[in-house]
Amino acid sequence: AINIEKLRAQTGAITLDPGYKNSGSCESAITFLDGEQGILRYRGYSIEELAEKACFLEVAYLIIFGELPKKAELEKFENDIRKHTLVNEEMKSIIDGFPKNAHPMGVLSSLTCALTAFNPGVVNVDNEEKMYEAICKIMGKFLVIATWTYRKAKGYPLNYYDNTKPYVENFLRLMFELPTEPYKINKTVLNAIDKLFILHADHEQNCSTSTVRMVGSSHAGLFASISAGVSALWGPLHGGANQAVLEMLEEIQKDGGDSDKFLAKAKDKNDPFRLMGFGHRVYKNFDPRARIIKKAADEVLAELGVNDPILSIAKSLEEKALKDEYFVSRNLYPNVDFYSGIIYRALGIPTEMFTVMFAIGRLPGWVAQWKEMRVNNEPIGRPRQVYVGEPLRSFVEMDKR
Ligand code: ACO
Repeated sequence: AINIEKLRAQTGAITLDPGYKNSGSCESAITFLDGEQGILRYRGYSIEELAEKACFLEVAYLIIFGELPKKAELEKFENDIRKHTLVNEEMKSIIDGFPKNAHPMGVLSSLTCALTAFNPGVVNVDNEEKMYEAICKIMGKFLVIATWTYRKAKGYPLNYYDNTKPYVENFLRLMFELPTEPYKINKTVLNAIDKLFILHADHEQNCSTSTVRMVGSSHAGLFASISAGVSALWGPLHGGANQAVLEMLEEIQKDGGDSDKFLAKAKDKNDPFRLMGFGHRVYKNFDPRARIIKKAADEVLAELGVNDPILSIAKSLEEKALKDEYFVSRNLYPNVDFYSGIIYRALGIPTEMFTVMFAIGRLPGWVAQWKEMRVNNEPIGRPRQVYVGEPLRSFVEMDKR
């Protein structure tokens, strides 16, 4: 039998903390989060104030460079991003190789990594100038390829960034503009998407961000690190939650649309069903992002006047749960994923694209965390383990096994 105690003794003193629930992996000056009190701040500024007063690119600058940009600084940043919004034509042959029903997150992760082949200079970013160029490149190109994953799935021709238009407006055009009809920007929709991107921009050392830092710590390069972050975000335990909300709503609709029945199921301790989009691992009293985005979701629904039974079910669940003793006493409020799912659905964005939307918003956070890690000259990430396998054994010849 294996003597675990002896093996542990041989490994030396190692802190075992699966899931890193209680281990800090770095010092960071980017995001402050207090789950008990529902506080989220980027570089010291409250998420409420940023969502109300700043635009996404301004917040991206703040997160990446540490200070709110002056007007000229923001203009320069936006211009420098514009210089890099063209994506190499050969990237199109890569996207052509994917089947139409490929998951957009898999396509996005592959394309992000493939960008390195066409921009080899982004790997050795040993000075500030090269680092800045790599950052502007990923900010420009990632938005374009992220929307291409949608165009590919739809069978639409791929769109190009319009350098005469702002960043988030470009997102809407890249996604929805068709050669046959001009695309009209709706201010309420634009405002909601801008807010959603701001609310998702960073969330300290979550799974995808830790992945970006870990991969980057081997000096693998910014694009490869971001590509790994996209893969981490893809998982249903991380970025896939808003997709789960819509899938639940569709299930309720197929079952006849009775929200009371599913509320009862969620409360039944013998039933594993949980109300998706309610509750949060970190925010135990309320999710500050959900409060902000609820208002934007209401505005989008009113503005677009969408008549969608799925969204009616969502509203009914929200209203009933907020008055229900079970949910109120456990502080189970709708989280940001609940409302972001509603907005995306109202805009006609398919469910598999929801996590891509999250990735576009999270990009500045990944970039900022990668930059912080490189500038601080952090060592390569290399956790230890506690070995619990076999002790030394003699090799057994094939005919004796
Ligand atoms: N529906 C019904 N009951 C719930 C729900 C829910 N969505 N969430 C929690 N509860 C109940 C639990 O059964 C438990 O009840 P009890 O005290 O009677 O046993 C109580 O509320 C506390 O819940 P915990 O499971 O201890 O909370 P935990 O922090 O472990 O879970 C989680 C948080 C995973 C987010 C959970 O609320 C959940 O499953 N929500 C639905 C899925 C979801 O929306 N996830 C995305 C959130 S974003 C994120 O965390 C990455």
